[in-house]
Amino acid sequence: MEKIAVIGAGLMGHGIAQIFAGSGHAVTLVDLDQTVLDHALDGIRQNLSLMADNGIGSRDDIDVILDRIATTTRMAEGVAGADFVMEAVVEKLELKQTLFSKLDAVCPSSTILASNTSVMSITEIAAKSKGQDRIVGTHFWNPPYLIPLVEVVPGDNTDLETVETTWQLLNRVGKHPVKVKRDVPGFVANRLQHALWREAISIVENGIADAATVDECVKFGFGLRLPVLGPMENADLVGTDLTLAIHDYILRHIESAPAPSPLLKQLVAAGDLGFKSGRGFQAWSEDQVAASHRNLQTHLMTIVKQTTASEKEQA
Ligand SMILES: NC(=O)c1ccc[n+]([C@@H]2O[C@H](COP(=O)([O-])OP(=O)(O)OC[C@H]3O[C@@H](n4cnc5c(N)ncnc54)[C@H](O)[C@@H]3O)[C@@H](O)[C@H]2O)c1
Repeated sequence: MEKIAVIGAGLMGHGIAQIFAGSGHAVTLVDLDQTVLDHALDGIRQNLSLMADNGIGSRDDIDVILDRIATTTRMAEGVAGADFVMEAVVEKLELKQTLFSKLDAVCPSSTILASNTSVMSITEIAAKSKGQDRIVGTHFWNPPYLIPLVEVVPGDNTDLETVETTWQLLNRVGKHPVKVKRDVPGFVANRLQHALWREAISIVENGIADAATVDECVKFGFGLRLPVLGPMENADLVGTDLTLAIHDYILRHIESAPAPSPLLKQLVAAGDLGFKSGRGFQAWSEDQVAASHRNLQTHLMTIVKQTTASEKEQA
């Protein structure tokens, strides 16, 4: 089994480490601070316990999985002997560029170096490294151990074999990797997601509906179809002719601003940061915040359980 190193043990890094260790890989988790690493191991234990309580995996495996994860604050030690290095440090271009040039210098050319950036260009992240052919984007979604999608994104100089080997590894550990053809900011899924958010915020800003109503329109409407009917299949389902007629009428009326909404900027300036401060587009009590997190976890675990059961049936 390939040896994996994960750099950055925060929200995403510890979940990514959990995926690989859960599939039998030896993983080294690297962070600047040992307290973060200890917290990451506690987080993985909690995730695995919650999953086991919900019928995904077994409590008996938790210690076995955790035993596969080593932690260190020394990067060179953490990546020694690694076949894959997954970077999940904070979303700052310069930090990632410096980190990749360091990784490029210490890892043999056979080691694949992957970035979990949410939206940044892989070509830019690799710009200060010599071995750009082995640098690739692997964009996981939060929580990475419950959401199957990983976008595999080549930079302009990434070798096709790097993309293929990365895709194969992610497939083997039970993810649903997709190959993005070109390196563009936001890749595929975040472009789609933020096109929707821009319109949602614009609707609230323009007094067409309040924030809760916008969410109801998604949750009780077209959102119900999305897990089985993506937008491209849906466009073919209704017909390209109807899609054209609708776009011909509606596109000029929907939001196309190339900058963040003034309402969004206003909220941030006022310290209304959402769940973090108890108020964003809506007011949130501590109970409501906890319920939202719980609902999402329960919903995702139900889907994972159903998918696993139907895969077992088909096998
Ligand atoms: N949070 C999300 O929903 C999400 C989803 C997909 C992708 N991402 C991307 O994943 C990456 C990590 O995001 P996160 O939410 O896990 O961040 P986070 O802040 O929770 O964790 C980042 C960790 O990186 C560590 N770190 C910083 N510099 C380091 C260095 N030089 N060496 C080792 N460790 C270092 C920090 O100590 C911290 O623990 C970002 O690029 C982010 O855009 C985040």
